[in-house]
Amino acid sequence: MANLASIQQPVAREMREFQGHFKEAMRTSVPLLDHITRYIVRSKGKQMRPLLVYLSASASGGTQERTHIAATLIELLHTATLVHDDVVDAAETRRGFLSISALWKSKIAVLVGDYLLSRGLLISMENDGVDLLRITSKAVEAMSEGELLQIEKARRLDITEEVYYEIIRRKTASLIAACCAAGAASAGADPDRVELMRSFGEEMGIAFQIKDDLLDFAPSSVTGKPTGGDVKERKMTLPLIHTLQSLSKLQRRSLVRGIKRSKDNPSEAQRIMGTILEGPGMAYAESKMKAHRDRAVALLEPLNDGAAKTALIDLVDFTISRKK
Ligand code: IPE
Ligand code: IPE
Ligand code: MG
Ligand code: MG
Repeated sequence: MANLASIQQPVAREMREFQGHFKEAMRTSVPLLDHITRYIVRSKGKQMRPLLVYLSASASGGTQERTHIAATLIELLHTATLVHDDVVDAAETRRGFLSISALWKSKIAVLVGDYLLSRGLLISMENDGVDLLRITSKAVEAMSEGELLQIEKARRLDITEEVYYEIIRRKTASLIAACCAAGAASAGADPDRVELMRSFGEEMGIAFQIKDDLLDFAPSSVTGKPTGGDVKERKMTLPLIHTLQSLSKLQRRSLVRGIKRSKDNPSEAQRIMGTILEGPGMAYAESKMKAHRDRAVALLEPLNDGAAKTALIDLVDFTISRKK
């Protein structure tokens, strides 16, 4: 399995330059804000989204100066949503560090998220990136819809597999789709190619979130995020949905009751996690994830063979095999 460093190879220079663009984008003269944005730069994540922007551009005519705008905009939006997401999910850790909301409290985290979002909008406007903004704003709208749909469903604990896909398509796949579309658009690709890349990103994004939901069961020392957060926050992810379907009515009721009790009850949360881990849902989610991986890779078929196309396929495979 290729690692991120080797997948980056075709756009290694762009990824190096990206670090400077991203840091510059967050510079501010407000001391508290500057302190926090420096903390964010230090605790950087995998940076898969900028990588996807550059590889999509590279596979669709070649990266341009504008590709940096797209990559910076999207990583800013991604970071903003993570900062907000940790408020919503009451998550103490992120990327192996304390979350912004845990360190500075939710009041500040909400404002920092807004700041990052507005920086992204401004940078695009200042650099003639209305087309990139159009692609990404739709994604941001979908992300908010997805997170709210998820909260609505968490109240009742009655979601179907179909609704699960609707949620993850919006909250996660939309931005990953935007990475690919914006990357291609920044390279001057025609509308058909932009749309093809968007579809590819959407399939990859669905596989990405199924993997994230599987990783919620992995040790936090590896993922850098809290273990079992989804159960505690009553998020119905695919492993749980499928396991529930396999149970008798009585067992199902007991599991749902347990989930409702699990938030401030670590041993109950542990028991629920055990039930899900033993049930058929993990393997089922794994197989669905692979099916979306295959669909994503199949969509790339019309692309010319080359280093960028190979790297895109490797990145999809990395997505479904990653440990964090
Ligand atoms: C986490 O995304 C948020 C989800 C959509 C699941 P990543 O796993 O790409 O986060 P970082 O940027 O690498 O930390
Ligand atoms: C993805 O869902 C959230 C976003 C779209 C920001 P999660 O809530 O599962 O993401 P993590 O696990 O906290 O990164
Ligand atoms: Mg979360
Ligand atoms: Mg998660």
